[in-house]
Formats: sequence, C-alpha cells, structure tokens
Amino acid sequence: MVKIGQVLEGCCSDQKVTVRGWVYRKREGKELIFLIIRDSTGFIQCTVKKASPCWNEAQKLTIESSLTLEGTARQDKRAPGGYEISAEDISIIGLAETFPISKDKSEEFIRDIRHLWLRSRKMNLVMKVRAEVLEAARQYFRSQDYTEVSPPMFISAAVEGGSTLFGLKYFDQDLYLTQSSQLYLEILIYSLEKVYCIAPSFRAEKSRTIRHLTEYWHIEGEWPFADMNDLMRFEEGLMEHVCKSIGEKCKKEFTELGADISKLSAVKVPFPRITYTEAIDRLKLKNPPLKWGDDLGYEDEKALADEFGKPFFVYDYPTAIKAFYCKNYREKPEIAMSADMMVPRIGEISTGGAREDDKDLLIKRMQEQGLKPEDYEWYLDLRRYGTMPHVGFGMGLERLLVWMLDLDNIIDAIPFPRTTRRFYP
Ligand code: 4AD
Ligand code: MG
Repeated sequence: MVKIGQVLEGCCSDQKVTVRGWVYRKREGKELIFLIIRDSTGFIQCTVKKASPCWNEAQKLTIESSLTLEGTARQDKRAPGGYEISAEDISIIGLAETFPISKDKSEEFIRDIRHLWLRSRKMNLVMKVRAEVLEAARQYFRSQDYTEVSPPMFISAAVEGGSTLFGLKYFDQDLYLTQSSQLYLEILIYSLEKVYCIAPSFRAEKSRTIRHLTEYWHIEGEWPFADMNDLMRFEEGLMEHVCKSIGEKCKKEFTELGADISKLSAVKVPFPRITYTEAIDRLKLKNPPLKWGDDLGYEDEKALADEFGKPFFVYDYPTAIKAFYCKNYREKPEIAMSADMMVPRIGEISTGGAREDDKDLLIKRMQEQGLKPEDYEWYLDLRRYGTMPHVGFGMGLERLLVWMLDLDNIIDAIPFPRTTRRFYP
C-alpha cells in the first residue's frame, strides 16, 4: 500500500501500486472510466479500460465510495498532478449513497454540511497548515524554555468583561466558559516561571465578521520578571519563527490554496511599533470622528495594517479601554502597558501587556470596572505572596491562519466553527 502523495512524488513510476482512499470524481466513457481517487495526501487520476477485469467494479463506484485500487503508476503530463494509475484491480470497501456535495452547491449549503465538506481539498490543506502552525508555535515556546500547561475551561469569574461571557449551569452553580486562560497562567508562573498554553477560548460574540468565532483556539504565554520590551520581542520572535517554518514546510499547501507565501518571508524582527496615540493621529485623516480614548474598530485597524503591509505593534493604549488586570505607567496612569499585534486585512491578532502586580491598585481597577474583588480572591493572593512584574499575551490561532492563508472567512480556519448561527455538527 502506498500513499497517493508518494506516487505523485514519483516513488513508483512504472511499478505496480496499491492505493486506498475515496472516489473524488468519476467520468465514464464507452471504453474508459476516469476516476480521481483521494487519500489524506493527495488526488490521483486512475483509468479503467473496458478490457480490464475491474471494469464492472469501476462502473458500480459512486462519488465518495471507499476502495482499494491496484494498478500501474505512470508519469503522464496530461494527468492532473502529473501521474496516473491504470487500474487492474478494484475492491469496493464502502459503496457511497449519492453524495450531496457537487460543484453547483452554494457556499451556504456547503457550510451546513461541514462534516462532509471537511473532505474537500481546501479543508484538508488548511487543516494541515493549521497543524504545522501549532507545531511551530510549540517549537518556539520550547526553544525559549517555556513549559506547556493545561488550564481549565470551566471558570467562576470573567477575564475579559461580562459582555462576551458564556454562562452555564454547573450542577447547582453558575459558571462560565473561559474567555482566556491568562489568569490561570498567572498562577502557574509562580511555580514554572515561563508558561504557555494552546487551548480553546469562548466568546459570546454576536458580531458576524470574518474575524470572530464564539469558540477559538488561543495561543497564550505568560512569564515573570519581564517588561513591555521583553513581551514584544518574544511575540515577534514567535511570529517570525512560525512564518519561517510554515514558509519552508507548507509551500505545496500555499500553492494549491492559491495563498501568497511571499508575505511570510517579509516577517522579520524587529517589527515596527507605534503608540496608540500615533495610531490615532494617523487614523484621524481617514476617520475624522475618531478621538484619543476611543477603542480602535476593525476598519481602523485594517486601515492602519494595510499601511504597514506586514505585522506590527500598536502599544500604550488608554487604561480606560483595557481590562482590569492591565498595569499602567505609574507616572501616566491613563496609559496602560499593553500591546496589540496587527496584520494586514485582519487587524488585531494578539493582545498582550504587563499585569497589575500591586494588590491595592488591582482592587481599585476591579471596583472601577464594576467587578467584585471577592470573586477574585485567588487572583489577589498572587499579589499577596511574592508578587513581581510579569507580562503575557494571547494570539488567536484562527486569525493567524486567516491572514497567512488569505482566507475569506475565519470559519474556514477551524474544522468545526462555532458562531452565533453555527454549531452543527
Ligand atoms: O484581545 P483578547 O481579548 O485578549 C485576551 O484574551 C488576553 N487575556 C490574552 C492574554 O493576554 N493572555 O484576545 C486575544 C486574541 C485576540 O487578539 C484575537 O486574536 C483572539 O484572541 N480573539 C478571537 N479570535 C476569534 N474569535 C473571537 N471572538 C476572538 N476574540 C479574541
Ligand atoms: Mg484584544
């Protein structure tokens, strides 16, 4: 048994091969049946001649039937992929009923049957790149001595504010789904120092945009005795490593997906950095009502990011628009030590910053934001026992993929997208 990808790489030209997979296309002529067979590694054209002993089996085959096919592999410039197998034996494993997906089906229909659409070449390739991105991110964290940890998804107090919090009944208790693992990473730095996790985050996000899911995968890091410069240096190092690694390993996937791979080689440290104040000054020209203190919207971020044409940071946001845990500059308390990484077309793909490490200031910030300090006793304990300056960030995996792969919509960056309207299958 060989993988189709091996045949396409020329492993077994003019040799007898057996492949196993599914029928992707079938075209039947009087004397010849063309099959396209797919497995996890690729698609290959197979031909069945009328004189062949497997002609009858080939006639029975329907789209998406699973089969084993034996034949001779040959280089053939006319065949898509450059190789073809002339079939000598076919054994049907599972004869498929009429497959509901065909070329004329609408985007909406395809989204409704995601469990079948995941077999498409597009989704196969995106999922492979996704796996490589995860691998490369882990590699980078490890190379910098970060320990991977596993935070909980059921939580008892909000991280990122109540408006996007999913509540749930946990036996008799009211709990939430976590919006970020940050606060738990903050616990673990007291033991392991540099930590990271790659885990789901949940947002009761009503906005239907190309960059919002209700469940997404969050790459988060947290570490002690560090400042804003350390934070941005780490994040850009991570991004450079991931882009370099994907640029080397996923050329084929980018080509087949029609994604521009050249943007990856343009990702070089150090990234440009502008302050929030500078961002507002630049954006006022395009969006006159925007004033200092406003949060940047998607359109603003996109306009800025398109100017840079590559990843960059916006830092030092107003404290008033940042979460309770953000540390501010003591001499300028209206400015928070925070930084967002932006990329073209998407805008924000990560948020990070320094965390408030003074217990009393933290309690004050909670009260200002209408949060009850008693809900966060364990978090306050971290400031009671051995507090220190520390930083961390969270990057949305799917937003990273939308940017990398030039995807039209974030729902194509995850196998089972959850949005306001989609939770099936
Ligand atoms: O900016 P956010 O809300 O920051 C945090 O959650 C911090 N606690 C992270 C940290 O410091 N550990 O979310 C971080 C990133 C965003 O920049 C974005 O990439 C992604 O998470 N994100 C989403 N991705 C998809 N769908 C959504 N609804 C998202 N919300 C945030
Ligand atoms: Mg953010």
